[in-house]
Amino acid sequence: MDKFQEQLIKPSSIEQAQNHLKHVFDGIGLSYYFAKEGNKGERIKVAILGAGAAVEVLPLTRHFVEKELGKPEITAFDVNPTLKKLSEVVAKDKDVDFRYEIRDLSNPEAFGEEKYDLVIARNPDTVNAGNWEKIFANGFSHLKSGGLFVVASTLRQFIRDQLEKGGKIIRSFKIPEVDNNVFFPERDVLIAQKT
Ligand SMILES: C[S@@+](CC[C@H](N)C(=O)[O-])C[C@H]1O[C@@H](n2cnc3c(N)ncnc32)[C@H](O)[C@@H]1O
Repeated sequence: MDKFQEQLIKPSSIEQAQNHLKHVFDGIGLSYYFAKEGNKGERIKVAILGAGAAVEVLPLTRHFVEKELGKPEITAFDVNPTLKKLSEVVAKDKDVDFRYEIRDLSNPEAFGEEKYDLVIARNPDTVNAGNWEKIFANGFSHLKSGGLFVVASTLRQFIRDQLEKGGKIIRSFKIPEVDNNVFFPERDVLIAQKT
């Protein structure tokens, strides 16, 4: 486990990350898009790409449940098996519907047959930008028509370019950094809708 993972696994860091994300989901009004479209009584299917410890799972579930849209079915994907272990700590004893798949998402087969209502990518590391270009393209092909692709990143232009290849950007927000915390620098959140 590296320093980042050690730091993240501290209960105070996990809780801080979860509270921050709940605040972000509430603030950007994510549920509004699903309430407006109507999810026809079906549960919202969510994919988290390059999920890391998947700290989104609890705040996302709380966000949708509070808005009476039901508990979302969440699948987190990451290529790194160590991170799956971290996610088990993060989701432990929580009332969530969540599974974690170890997959290389640059491979178009990696997502299986499933189509999602919502795809999330937080902090895609573009050290290898070509890798993420493929991940975005594959993510779009597993998003239902009209579904949302939400990305939080400090790399505004790169993300904008990727999202415009598969959909239409319908909102963008700036999320301030949290207490000068290295894990939560200021970043942009962009929401694209698959056309
Ligand atoms: C900077 S981390 C962000 C993790 C998490 N989303 C967060 O914000 O804390 C980027 C993640 O993308 C994953 N990743 C990179 N390339 C991938 C690929 N081809 N398939 C699946 N996951 C990948 C890495 O293993 C890493 O966990």
